[in-house]
Amino acid sequence: MKKTLNLTWNTLNNLENIYGESFYLLDSEKFKKNYNEFLKSFRKIYPNSFIAYSYKTNYIPKLCKLVNQMGGYAEVVSEMEFNLAIKIGVTPKKIIYNGPYKSENSIKKCLLNGGMVNLDSLSEVDIIEKIAHKYPKINMSVGLRCNFDIGTPLISRFGLDINEFSEAFKRINKIRNINVKGIHCHFPNRSLETFISRIDKMLYLSKKFFKNSPEFIDIGGGYFGKMDLVLKKQFNCEIPSYQEYADIIATKIENAYKNINNSKKPKLFLEPGTALVADTMKFVVKVISTKNVRNKCIAIVSGSKFNISPTSDTINLPIKVYRQCRKNIANKQKTIDIAGYTCIENDYLYKKYKGNLEIGDYIVFNNVGSYSLVMKPPFILPNCAAIEHSPKKGYNIIKRQENLKDIFNTFRF
Ligand SMILES: Cc1ncc(COP(=O)(O)O)c(C=O)c1O
Repeated sequence: MKKTLNLTWNTLNNLENIYGESFYLLDSEKFKKNYNEFLKSFRKIYPNSFIAYSYKTNYIPKLCKLVNQMGGYAEVVSEMEFNLAIKIGVTPKKIIYNGPYKSENSIKKCLLNGGMVNLDSLSEVDIIEKIAHKYPKINMSVGLRCNFDIGTPLISRFGLDINEFSEAFKRINKIRNINVKGIHCHFPNRSLETFISRIDKMLYLSKKFFKNSPEFIDIGGGYFGKMDLVLKKQFNCEIPSYQEYADIIATKIENAYKNINNSKKPKLFLEPGTALVADTMKFVVKVISTKNVRNKCIAIVSGSKFNISPTSDTINLPIKVYRQCRKNIANKQKTIDIAGYTCIENDYLYKKYKGNLEIGDYIVFNNVGSYSLVMKPPFILPNCAAIEHSPKKGYNIIKRQENLKDIFNTFRF
């Protein structure tokens, strides 16, 4: 297909004829740009900064491979993601294994191969004690995920609270062949203020628990990505830039360790998912029918909110409508709710769209790269195709449309 990135109704119609009535579009060049810009913002201030890309946010293998090629780490939270990292060629030494549910087998696999496991609970301390005794000749490294108050009402369920943290630290220090190499935290909040308390508390814990400096401080993910003003306005806090996050986090760690020899300074791990990937994907749907129910205008489309933001009911993502060039279309502005194909009553992709929508129009949703394709359930319809578009190579499939066999392969008939 033509190698233009300028979408038109005709381009979208051609893509529909090949890939189906809804599909994702991925811009991996933008992903690379985001990766480099994010890392540069931190390295300018603290050169020992590293990205561990959060696979769960969007584990399209092409993206995970790009991270590996650019020198990044893989941040995984399940055995499936661990195996994906290995499959695409990531060396286990560049895998950081997080999350609240890790099987004994997967922890063993990661540790014995030199990967880093960040322990989430005392039960995981039990597991590594067992593994350490079974393999006394192998030296293993772990980190501890910390849970503390960052000044928000939410009590996070992840990581070890301070008392359990001290107990874990003492227990592991008694095991000869396991070292606590560093500490980790992650909270879902994205505002700059919460990052101030995150890094302050992590630096406090580093000083309190490590005689020298730890090998790493992992500050987790939770950074906003890039977005247009229409989207920015829908959040109840300022949207910081990459540099603003770096100015807080990297500056504080640089100051804390400024008198230490460069080779002894801890690595700063950052685990962005959303920040790198959110604005690299679009989702394309077609208007299938329109109706008016007691003065409420509804347009039903070939996608669902489960394709774009399964966890949010409040955000209207930026959209653009593409219409076939025809004459004499009534263009009276209406207020329209854009509804999905599922039978869920509140499956709306966009509320109160002001304009006019007609059958056959395409609607392109922006900023759909995070927690979308990976969270789409096989509910009512299998997932749609994902296509990469680049000025150099045109349009290329990176995930084909799923079919009945993909969904029912695991069932017995
Ligand atoms: C441990 C950890 N790291 C990184 C991330 C990525 O966060 P985000 O996609 O908000 O950047 C998450 C998301 O839940 C996480 O749990």
